[in-house]
Amino acid sequence: MEHSNLTRTKSLIDKYGRRIDYLRVSVTDRCNLRCQYCIPKDGIELTTHEEILSFNEIYRICSLMGSMGIHKIKLTGGEPLARKNLNQLVKQLKSIPEIDQITLTTNGVLLEEQVEGLVEAGIDAITVSMDTLDSNLYAQITRRDEFTKAMNGLKAAYKYVPNIAVKINCVPMGLEGQNLVEMAAIARDYNIHVRYIEMMPIGLGKQFTMCSEEDVLKELEAVYGKASLYNGKLGNGPCHYYTFKGFKGKIGFISAVSHKFCSECNRVRLTSQGFLKTCLQYDIGSDLRGLIRSGCSDEKLLEVISKTIDAKPDGHRFLKEEITSENHLGMSQIGG
Ligand code: GTP
Ligand code: 5AD
Ligand code: SF4
Repeated sequence: MEHSNLTRTKSLIDKYGRRIDYLRVSVTDRCNLRCQYCIPKDGIELTTHEEILSFNEIYRICSLMGSMGIHKIKLTGGEPLARKNLNQLVKQLKSIPEIDQITLTTNGVLLEEQVEGLVEAGIDAITVSMDTLDSNLYAQITRRDEFTKAMNGLKAAYKYVPNIAVKINCVPMGLEGQNLVEMAAIARDYNIHVRYIEMMPIGLGKQFTMCSEEDVLKELEAVYGKASLYNGKLGNGPCHYYTFKGFKGKIGFISAVSHKFCSECNRVRLTSQGFLKTCLQYDIGSDLRGLIRSGCSDEKLLEVISKTIDAKPDGHRFLKEEITSENHLGMSQIGG
């Protein structure tokens, strides 16, 4: 059942006046790839099965947060499809009346075999992370030879467009052969939105040089002509979009460095270990798992969640000299 905004009485407003209606839920910190900017080549120390939230615990938190004003949920990882029976979680979360949308960001490697179950469970949108269309370079960036499987995952998801939106996330790394222009051709030829993400100085991302939106846009315009800013809203995140003449999909940019969007931030994160993290860059938040496992009541949980959101920082300080209290988690543990 969809509730219209008019009938909704609850909303979560933080102390800077931002309406928080989007929760990013990381379902696992495991990943079947080792993207250079995300996970070290030998992997990270993984959490045990007991340490990560069960589907019922995730459901409980999402139900409570739904009643408080969360209406959109993103499932992330690590690699979310590495968590068994993810479609069951989608089904459970879809039954929460206040949750309008459940979306997924995946590397696509396991998507072909799971997409049907996810769509049946009610997934609303799928984003596949793919930094290049060159299979050799893909293997170099991800340290795994999985390009074909990821591409097959993308193609399998595309069969459900337009009922579900399909997008690509691409992080420009300034590598020869990454070919950002070729990547954009997917949006030219298919109703798939291609989004370029500025490398963020989080975890291993600090070791890379960021390619700015301005530079990427220039490169694309040199081939595809002038882009026009798209005014509509697509998705629930911080991406802004452009249209190019003759393109079926849009070209998007998530430019956390050059176009800081913290003043419009609408989201908080739940890590796979049940930490409610209020900003990508800081360790500020609350251990909901500890509370749940010590037998905490719903009332107490609601109170803690409310206080946690109230203490959400005003924004990131990506410029090194500004950094005050560092986040200690890597991207695969936070869920992007
Ligand atoms: P949709 O547009 O609905 O697909 O959502 P989304 O863009 O939030 O989803 P996705 O999981 O694909 O995230 C894309 C990128 O945006 C990732 O690199 C995230 O780390 C980044 N991102 C999402 N939220 C934030 C945020 O609050 N701050 C920053 N700095 N980056 C974010
Ligand atoms: N900066 C920008 N994007 C990143 N991602 C992972 N690490 C970083 C980083 N340091 C992206 C992945 C994936 C999304 C969830 O986050 O490529 O598309
Ligand atoms: Fe895995 Fe995503 Fe990190 Fe790549 S960016 S290693 S796909 S979690």
